[in-house]
Amino acid sequence: MHLCRFHFLIALLCAAALAILGAPLANAQGPNPAQVENKTCLACHANRDLAMKLPGGETLSVYTDEAQFNASVHGKRGQRCTTCHANITAYPHPAVTARDRRDYALQMYTVCRQCHEKVYQQAIDSIHSKDIAAGNRNAAVCTDCHTAHYTTDPHNPRSKIPQTCRQCHSTIFDQYKSSVHGAALLDQSNPDVPTCVECHGVHQIADPTTNAFRLKSPELCATCHTDRAKMKKYNLSTNVLNTYVADFHGSTVELFEKQSPDAPTNKAVCYDCHGVHDIRSAKDPKSSVVKENLLKTCQQCHPDATTDFPSSWMSHYDASPTKYPAVYYINLFYTILIPVVIGGMLAFVLLDAARRILNRFQKPGSHSR
Ligand code: HEC
Ligand code: HEC
Ligand code: HEC
Ligand code: HEC
Ligand code: HEC
Ligand code: HEC
Ligand code: HEC
Ligand code: HEC
Ligand code: HEC
Repeated sequence: MHLCRFHFLIALLCAAALAILGAPLANAQGPNPAQVENKTCLACHANRDLAMKLPGGETLSVYTDEAQFNASVHGKRGQRCTTCHANITAYPHPAVTARDRRDYALQMYTVCRQCHEKVYQQAIDSIHSKDIAAGNRNAAVCTDCHTAHYTTDPHNPRSKIPQTCRQCHSTIFDQYKSSVHGAALLDQSNPDVPTCVECHGVHQIADPTTNAFRLKSPELCATCHTDRAKMKKYNLSTNVLNTYVADFHGSTVELFEKQSPDAPTNKAVCYDCHGVHDIRSAKDPKSSVVKENLLKTCQQCHPDATTDFPSSWMSHYDASPTKYPAVYYINLFYTILIPVVIGGMLAFVLLDAARRILNRFQKPGSHSR
């Protein structure tokens, strides 16, 4: 029944196209693709019901929305259907070799390369391309993120970017949506918070589960979190990296990053305490670093830690008379005591030496005078 309908449609459309357009499609040699007008193709392809059966059994709709194509970045520039479909100049078209829809998309996306060579080359290094090469057909190619016919400005609005990734990473998107970063982007179109691509890249996404990515991650967070102008708007401290690097977790991570960037580390990085896609404000009661939840966060790696364990640690603070006064006054005490003790000893040694020298130069017997 389906087949009958296809045949009928094809016959009908062929007749219509031939009647309207005559020569170009009837020409056995085939016209120069550059000369086939889009309206020639659309005479058939603007039909919403036009579809074909692929060898694997799936149905592929071959409808193309003319208005939406004309509004796309390519359509607006008057691009021809045949610049991408260079092998199609007449009907019947050359036979399709793809087994199913995914096969078809994976064969076709390479047409983008002719004009976007640089991006194409970048994408070869992406985790997605590597996954495809390894046999995972579901990893993203150009047309998954940009579509084939209805490509729009990919940068604006910014909130579109995580939506692009959401098609396949919906669990992560849902976490991100409620994070301090994601909520600001999606609710307020905030330009300062990271979308997926500030942390992962776009066409050159690296594997985020490697040791190298982990060791470099504090720097990634620091690109924004040490930016004074940016952080001032949110009244957030820019001291978070300094204090992290100064403490036992960060000093090791930094050392590894410099000397052996692929080494594994069990020391905490920013996201072990704050979360990755679900980072919350430190004031949010659900935050992993709020007082009530902090012990649990430490216990991931310090299983024996007890209630007062977190308070033995200075977090992101420098000690001051109000924050960690004990540490502050002990530090102060030592900064005074040590110079005083060493100075005192030096003075003692010097005075003692002077006394001895003086004694030696004094004439024997002068004491008795
Ligand atoms: C006479 C009607 C007609 C015209 C004109 C026509 N097509 Fe098609 N096209 C079809 C039909 C029907 C199919 C479904 C598969 C089949 O029958 O080959 C199809 C399938 C396709 C496909 C999907 C399968 C494949 O071969 O990759 C593409 C792409 C395509 N057409 C592009 C074009 C382009 C580009 C033009 C203009 C140069 C064009 N078509 C002109 C009727 C037409
Ligand atoms: C920028 C390149 C480009 C242009 C321009 C283009 N196509 Fe395509 N087309 C593709 C790609 C790539 C695919 C593979 C399908 C996918 O990955 O979604 C495709 C697929 C198709 C298909 C198969 C059904 C489908 O949508 O997957 C048809 C039919 C088609 N194109 C018709 C047209 C027509 C008609 C025009 C002109 C109005 C046109 N194309 C312009 C790149 C293009
Ligand atoms: C015939 C050449 C050509 C082909 C083939 C082509 N493009 Fe383009 N594309 C352009 C031109 C020209 C522009 C507009 C100039 C620009 O912004 O780079 C553009 C713009 C874009 C943009 C928007 C860039 C921006 O910064 O706004 C995206 C995304 C894009 N193309 C994706 C694709 C994808 C995906 C394919 C394959 C399905 C493709 N292009 C195939 C020529 C082409
Ligand atoms: C995983 C999704 C994804 C894939 C796969 C992808 N892109 Fe993009 N692309 C994006 C996003 C998102 C942006 C916008 C990035 C931004 O604003 O920082 C973009 C930007 C672009 C731009 C604008 C210029 C630029 O470099 O930012 C072009 C052109 C482009 N892509 C073409 C392509 C082509 C061609 C392919 C295939 C080789 C491809 N893209 C694969 C998501 C993707
Ligand atoms: C068409 C589906 C699709 C889209 C769209 C897509 N991805 Fe992916 N992505 C995959 C698949 C499939 C994998 C393979 C690993 C997996 O199953 O998670 C993957 C893997 C990844 C990985 C590596 C995961 C790991 O465990 O090593 C990252 C990071 C990633 N994608 C980020 C992104 C970002 C960022 C975007 C949006 C710009 C995006 N993806 C869009 C399908 C997609
Ligand atoms: C603030 C930076 C940041 C943002 C924003 C971000 N990620 Fe990630 N992402 C990371 C880090 C760091 C890891 C590694 C976590 C680990 O190894 O436990 C990661 C891991 C991943 C992974 C692989 C591990 C997994 O959990 O499956 C995928 C896929 C991924 N991110 C996709 C996304 C997508 C999609 C978005 C946007 C909705 C996004 N990320 C936003 C930093 C970020
Ligand atoms: C592209 C810039 C950028 C990157 C990269 C970034 N952040 Fe943020 N982050 C922000 C901005 C801007 C805010 C403030 C958002 C708001 O309050 O609306 C913020 C807020 C936060 C907060 C909440 C602070 C509070 O108590 O209100 C934490 C915690 C945080 N980020 C941690 C991280 C971590 C950890 C990383 C790395 C995995 C990271 N950020 C990467 C820009 C960034
Ligand atoms: C060992 C756990 C731990 C690590 C590692 C860690 N943090 Fe924190 N972070 C905290 C705690 C606890 C707080 C809450 C401090 C408070 O409000 O008293 C906090 C607060 C913050 C805030 C809010 C500051 C403000 O002004 O309110 C930001 C932003 C932040 N951290 C970013 C980072 C970044 C970036 C890194 C990595 C360079 C990092 N953190 C590493 C535990 C950690
Ligand atoms: C991702 C794992 C991880 C997390 C989370 C973590 N730490 Fe650590 N921490 C370590 C490792 C590993 C060491 C080094 C232990 C050693 O050398 O014996 C360490 C060392 C320390 C030390 C030095 C003294 C000691 O016990 O060796 C203190 C204090 C400390 N951490 C406090 C904290 C606090 C407080 C938290 C929670 C806010 C926390 N840590 C969260 C992994 C972690």
